[in-house]
Amino acid sequence: MTGPTQFTDFATGRQSRAIFSDEALYRLEMERIFGRCWLFLAHESQIPRPGDFFRTFMGEDDVIVIRQRDMTIGAFLNSCPHRGNRVCRADRGNAKAFTCNYHGWAFAPDGSLASVPLEQEAYFGELDKSRFGLVPVAQVASYKGLVFGCFDPAAPSLEDYLGDAKFYLDVWLDAMPGGTALIGETQKVDLETNWKLPVENVCGDGYHLGWAHAGAMRAVQTMDIAGLTVGNDSIDLEGGLSIAGLNGHSTLAALDGVSGYSFYPDPKPMLDYLEANRATVIERLGRLRGEKLWGSQINITIFPNLQLLPGLNWLRTYHPKGPGRIEQWTWVTVERAMPESMQAAILDNQCLTFGPAGLFDNDDGDNLAASTEQSRGWRTAQMDLHTNMAVGRSGPREGFPGDIAQGLVSEHNQRYFYRRWQEHIDAASWAEVPAYNVNPLGAGAQSEAAARDAA
Ligand code: FES
Ligand SMILES: [Fe+2]
Repeated sequence: MTGPTQFTDFATGRQSRAIFSDEALYRLEMERIFGRCWLFLAHESQIPRPGDFFRTFMGEDDVIVIRQRDMTIGAFLNSCPHRGNRVCRADRGNAKAFTCNYHGWAFAPDGSLASVPLEQEAYFGELDKSRFGLVPVAQVASYKGLVFGCFDPAAPSLEDYLGDAKFYLDVWLDAMPGGTALIGETQKVDLETNWKLPVENVCGDGYHLGWAHAGAMRAVQTMDIAGLTVGNDSIDLEGGLSIAGLNGHSTLAALDGVSGYSFYPDPKPMLDYLEANRATVIERLGRLRGEKLWGSQINITIFPNLQLLPGLNWLRTYHPKGPGRIEQWTWVTVERAMPESMQAAILDNQCLTFGPAGLFDNDDGDNLAASTEQSRGWRTAQMDLHTNMAVGRSGPREGFPGDIAQGLVSEHNQRYFYRRWQEHIDAASWAEVPAYNVNPLGAGAQSEAAARDAA
């Protein structure tokens, strides 16, 4: 591996293909991205009661997220301090203690070492149990139902980390009273792809929709999305926005207030729900978000590996397993205020479109795996890839935080994703990461408060 700054170029939209295959660079990503950034752990609705736990990953580290007796949430490395074994094998559940299979050390839900077999006889009563608890994740915090963890004690607060992306997150998390919940099970899919490719595919790549998903669109599309057509023979650049410049976070948004439900064979119950509740949302979020964003097809990405698609109603995270493999975990999300029959229809539709055998997901999986495979040869790894569509055609847009390019078909958001990736890879610590929560447009840009006023 050569100097990391040679790997991407924001101004021209270039990425070296080595970033999808290089082992040393992958290890640097574990340290400087997954070891440093806030990572999605769970939705609070998954662990409502004390002792409820959910197992997930932070990078390649296995982590248990546990609701504590005082209702706060803790997260601990799922590795026994004695000889390293996992102390929890279940994916989720409720536990009074986590007892290691190997020699029987048992840990309380707060991570402390509660009991050790033969403690008096074999350790002669000399084991200081306070030194051998499960290792806690340095920071754990929630934002409106989403629980995040961060290994870096020097990281900014979660609120600051999310920054202006909260303006867009709230369109899903805070539109309706009661907020959101996850329903159904975790859908886990193994994919032979580098973790960055599915993130960029969803964060900004409206270009592939009408082409890669032409068959799926023909099968299930019932409403227009910003003029995107099967075969990409037309487009409406006024109909959507590519919103980036949010410290790696981004949003892709149609502006019609309904197209999130375009891929439902029968969208009527969803459209009725939107109509019945739009006034409530406008009251809570203002006119701009209530009319233009809530209900629209919007893809929200929280750097590095969390994506939410309200309307299609899934939430997804990608767990890297080496440079060329991921586990993709998907959940169905609903607003708690949605009627049960609508929630059931959403779960069905998510399985049809973006489930493990979903129409859209299988198109994507194949393309992403091939892009990874075709970038790790001796010769191809020396070549570049390009997100150079509409370079330089972005700017402020009244009411919306971020640096914004017109249309859903743009490679603007991908460029910003790789820019943030590069900034983290180049920095030895948070102190060297360019100031977070600062809009790259500077003083003239819209703050969240200004946007609310404008709305
Ligand atoms: S490895 Fe867990 S008790 Fe020994
Ligand atoms: Fe796709």
